[in-house]
Amino acid sequence: MSEHNDKIEQLATRHKFDEPVFVTRPTMPDLSDYQKSIAKIWENQWLTNYGPFYRQFQVELMQYMQVEHLTLFNNGTNALMVALQALRINSGEVITTPFTFAATSHVLYWNNIKPVFCDIEPETFNIDPGKIENLIGPDTKAIMPVHVYGNPCDMKAIEKIAQRHGLFVIYDAAHAFGVQLNNRPLSDFGDISAYSFHATKLFSTIEGGALVSNSKSRNDRVHSLSNFGIANEETVIGPGINGKMNEMQASFGLLELQLVENEIAKRQKIAIQYRKFLKDIPGVRTLDDIPGVKHNYAYFPILIDAELYGTDRDNLNIILRKCNIIPRKYFYPLCSHYPCYRSLASANPDNLAVAEKTASQVLCLPMYGALTSETVDIICQMIKSIHEIYVTF
Ligand SMILES: Cc1ncc(COP(=O)(O)O)c(C=O)c1O
Repeated sequence: MSEHNDKIEQLATRHKFDEPVFVTRPTMPDLSDYQKSIAKIWENQWLTNYGPFYRQFQVELMQYMQVEHLTLFNNGTNALMVALQALRINSGEVITTPFTFAATSHVLYWNNIKPVFCDIEPETFNIDPGKIENLIGPDTKAIMPVHVYGNPCDMKAIEKIAQRHGLFVIYDAAHAFGVQLNNRPLSDFGDISAYSFHATKLFSTIEGGALVSNSKSRNDRVHSLSNFGIANEETVIGPGINGKMNEMQASFGLLELQLVENEIAKRQKIAIQYRKFLKDIPGVRTLDDIPGVKHNYAYFPILIDAELYGTDRDNLNIILRKCNIIPRKYFYPLCSHYPCYRSLASANPDNLAVAEKTASQVLCLPMYGALTSETVDIICQMIKSIHEIYVTF
């Protein structure tokens, strides 16, 4: 054991980065371009409430996303909150995945809905359609899947189930900006899709988000609910929220939109480099591209099989951090382990075997366009060397 430790310490000292290599880094527009946008906001004297930048961003985003009905939000969580209210889902149960960020379950809780956790598929880590029907009961109102890491859910299978049982489908598409299936946006499926434009996402408006709906009337309702339920100066349609995107966010988003395809292309190269190197290391699994999908390479998850790799995901995480490489255990712990949900019947780990195993093995490696190929190479070398140290001694 101490032999391992010595070797690991030597490795960490040899390869320690001077600055932390975080799991992601925001894509920033040129500062002088943003300064020009800010100057325009000062000139307009219009800071929020659907100003000129909001409207221009909305139009350009709809063109980029190939969608017809879109409302911008101040963050993705409020977008999801409003999606539920727009469909009048404010009681009962919604079937969702435990393998996601906290916001997915929390928006259900805040809407007085009981989350019902469904296991995930081992290939994509998305909700397993084969396990949804068993969870449907008299109180089920909707299914809320997540396109985890931007990989599309099995939307056709989910749609069939929803139709059979008269359920709504709300996609948490927080990770899926720019992803297409057969040249069409993922938001073609389901009743509403919710995007996040948080700074850690591939495409950001600092904080922000959007809802894409499949009809004008639904989008009108979403729009009103994002503005306190106000439909016009004299009509309030219901208990809305303040979900409005402001002009600083919208103008940032307009500049980001010009950068996003280049950012995706850079990330694709990094993903290819990671996969090429890591595929030969025993116990390290990477995800492949899916035929027909235009991926966004938002994240680079790997799975560590401790028996083959020689040590487990947690130890690998600790060692990488010693070298100033900061991966993240997305998504550990599962939402079903949070104190607020763990007493639910559906949170029983026995029914969530794939999610439990995935959460114990997954590690998201650094992924952003500005990551150099030299840095990726060193991260891969480290992962290989750590394996070699543990299997040799
Ligand atoms: C899957 C998922 N859903 C919802 C959200 C919430 O989005 P936001 O941070 O923009 O509120 C996030 C990310 O933050 C997320 O990863």
